[in-house]
Amino acid sequence: MFRTVIRWHKIFSSENDAAQLPLNRAEIRYIAGRKMCLIRTHAGVFAIEERCPHNGFSLLHGRCTEDGEAIVCPLHRYAFDLKTGRSRSGAGGAAITFPVKIEDDGVFVGVEEREWGWGKSKSE
Ligand code: FES
Repeated sequence: MFRTVIRWHKIFSSENDAAQLPLNRAEIRYIAGRKMCLIRTHAGVFAIEERCPHNGFSLLHGRCTEDGEAIVCPLHRYAFDLKTGRSRSGAGGAAITFPVKIEDDGVFVGVEEREWGWGKSKSE
């Protein structure tokens, strides 16, 4: 039986290193085969799939909202919540987001993977 696991990928060795990310701008990273935008705002560090769910435009040049919790796609200007991926207007679909956690030994992005095994889905 397949189960879903979240594998955590280290993206920075410390929270201070995450400050290398430009404030309120996206930077593209490939993590576990996924192309995503890493974004640092005053609300935190976020990871969201690079393609807009509405029509596939790149979110790389999207701008962050003033509250630092959403990114606005440059093409049709739908805003997507950086934590949940939900569209703020309800239109344009939902973006795929990835959890980010800050630990003593680094900053990690979680990517869901399917693996063969028994038992409940888990986080590794
Ligand atoms: S392609 Fe992003 S809002 Fe339309």
